[in-house]
Amino acid sequence: MNYRVPRTRKEIFETLIKGLQRLEYRGYDSAGVAIDGNNNEVKERHIQLVKKRGNVKALDEELYKQDSMDLKVEFETHFGIAHTRWATHGVPNAVNSHPQRSDKGNEFVVIHNGIITNYKDLRKFLESKGYEFESETDTETIAKLIKYVFDNRETEDVTFSALVERVIQQLEGAFALVFKSIHYPGEAVATRRGSPLLIGVRSKYKLSTEQIPVLYRTRNIENVKNICKTRMKRLDSSTCLHAVGNKAVEFFFASDASAIIEHTNRVIFLEDDDIAAVADGKLSIHRVKRLASDDPSRAIQTLQMELQQIMKGNFSAFMQKEIFEQPESVFNTMRGRVNFETNTVLLGGLKDHLKEIRRCRRLIVIGCGTSYHAAVATRQVLEELTELPVMVELASDFLDRNTPVFRDDVCFFISQSGETADTLLALRYCKDRRALTVGITNTVGSSISRETDCGVHINAGPEIGVASTKAYTSQFISLVMFGLMMSEDRISLQNRRREIIHGLKSLPELIKEVLSLDEKIHDLALELYTQRSLLVMGRGYNYATCLEGALKIKEITYMHSEGILAGELKHGPLALIDKQMPVIMVIMKDPCFAKCQNALQQVTARQGRPIILCSKDDTESSKFAYKTIELPHTVDCLQGILSVIPLQLLSFHLAVLRGYDVDFPRNLAKSVTVE
Ligand code: G6P
Repeated sequence: MNYRVPRTRKEIFETLIKGLQRLEYRGYDSAGVAIDGNNNEVKERHIQLVKKRGNVKALDEELYKQDSMDLKVEFETHFGIAHTRWATHGVPNAVNSHPQRSDKGNEFVVIHNGIITNYKDLRKFLESKGYEFESETDTETIAKLIKYVFDNRETEDVTFSALVERVIQQLEGAFALVFKSIHYPGEAVATRRGSPLLIGVRSKYKLSTEQIPVLYRTRNIENVKNICKTRMKRLDSSTCLHAVGNKAVEFFFASDASAIIEHTNRVIFLEDDDIAAVADGKLSIHRVKRLASDDPSRAIQTLQMELQQIMKGNFSAFMQKEIFEQPESVFNTMRGRVNFETNTVLLGGLKDHLKEIRRCRRLIVIGCGTSYHAAVATRQVLEELTELPVMVELASDFLDRNTPVFRDDVCFFISQSGETADTLLALRYCKDRRALTVGITNTVGSSISRETDCGVHINAGPEIGVASTKAYTSQFISLVMFGLMMSEDRISLQNRRREIIHGLKSLPELIKEVLSLDEKIHDLALELYTQRSLLVMGRGYNYATCLEGALKIKEITYMHSEGILAGELKHGPLALIDKQMPVIMVIMKDPCFAKCQNALQQVTARQGRPIILCSKDDTESSKFAYKTIELPHTVDCLQGILSVIPLQLLSFHLAVLRGYDVDFPRNLAKSVTVE
């Protein structure tokens, strides 16, 4: 929204479209915008909706086809909203895409991330009152509901945010919502519950410390300061008003900072049940009435995220860029935390809870997708270093089972985005049972990092490719660092700790060495890309590598792929082996080496032609290999960081050769904010 900042319609389009393009990784099956249709004459305003099935580019093209819209017309004050969708209710098409509207006159329009679980009841009610629905979405109920509340208002002067407050009192489920209305021209209202939402503020007038006098300290401030270089100031609704006053200002509402970072790096993260309203260029934030006694103050954070950090650079896809970033991203994860001189590890976000964690009954490590694999990958080393029982859990299954959780459990939530719905629900489940909760996320200000008692930011930098790569290796390292910190006092583990810390130090260089195999892996992809299926087999420390490698292949190449525990070979998978079936075997010089050799023999005895990922110094395995990819050797429990990279590269090359869009695989989204 621009307030007293003259912008042409073309500039407004560009801002909205660019913002959507940066968010496309969250969903991309249809998109839409709502903008002011006429000129600055408030009374004549109407809202113009343009929606299109397909990606944001398709919407962009559609916008310029609208000949009723003069691109040069200038707006002194204007509020436009836009959305890119990943269907949860209703097929992807223009009608189901957002913004959804209250009626044919577009009196109220709304965009929504999340899911409304009671939408059927609401829809039934609204239909009984004569409201006609046009889409199959849950979101349309919100648009109709606000009109219903407006039509039935008791007084004429009801504010836009009061209407929204009434609406969200009726909603169940998760949402981040932004509303626009012809009845409230030049005003915006946004709110959230369970889905992320932030507001960027750009003003020529500096928000000086006189205007915002209170310096802010949070539980995490040291962490945030040190790790994220984020400056935080306290704002409450009244100081907020002073801060921007009546001066020219632009506000950017977004579900993710990447959408707005090119306009401003000053950002307020909204909390659940906050209602943020902009009217006359003034921003105010208040809590819904039932929570009115809560502290409404919100921090303005200055993000240090550079735009180039979220651009592709010289790579053809974000995923490829992110794979190649791993020497730096793993280094950033360790930076300031691992002391290679003293062989100690300090995770600032956990230090105050260490005693409590050491006393716990067990560790439960919970995540989805790749984040879950990071838990599987580190389970053994965590058990070894903490000497505690460690459960690893898929968040959805953990919830389905109503898993018993106790006050003296410590529950870890691993999530790149920090917003995954299942993981977030599991977190709330564990909090209800009073367990200590620890977040391991890549996203500062995300729901998981805010709702956990303590945590570690993995500092891998923004990850845009839907298929997670660098977040995996950084999550892996974060969990290993946690194990090392826990075991500092264990005399019997000192040699092992030194060995692992030494291994961590050389990882960035070894990762570079693995990345130099890219061409060889590309050649392998040339041989494999027409196959229908690809098995990936291993055990011990590298079982997770197989799961993760197979997931990468599935996600972006659409080939069938399975990660197989070599110990289970005889119990089924062996039946799949023949001359044709490509099998990748991960065989490393670790305690499972001899057992992996057995599996190798069984595969070759059935005329299988294994492609072996093995250590450089392994002369034994290569004798039986159809092809080998030789990797540098590191400590057994860190080997998985090196062995997953060839599989990340392989999946990337296979997807490119098969002609697929690597960053935006069909049917998948980067951040799954619905159950
Ligand atoms: C989605 C993504 C995966 C990711 C998973 C968990 O499925 O496509 O790449 O591993 O969610 O996401 P999180 O943000 O919680 O790590």
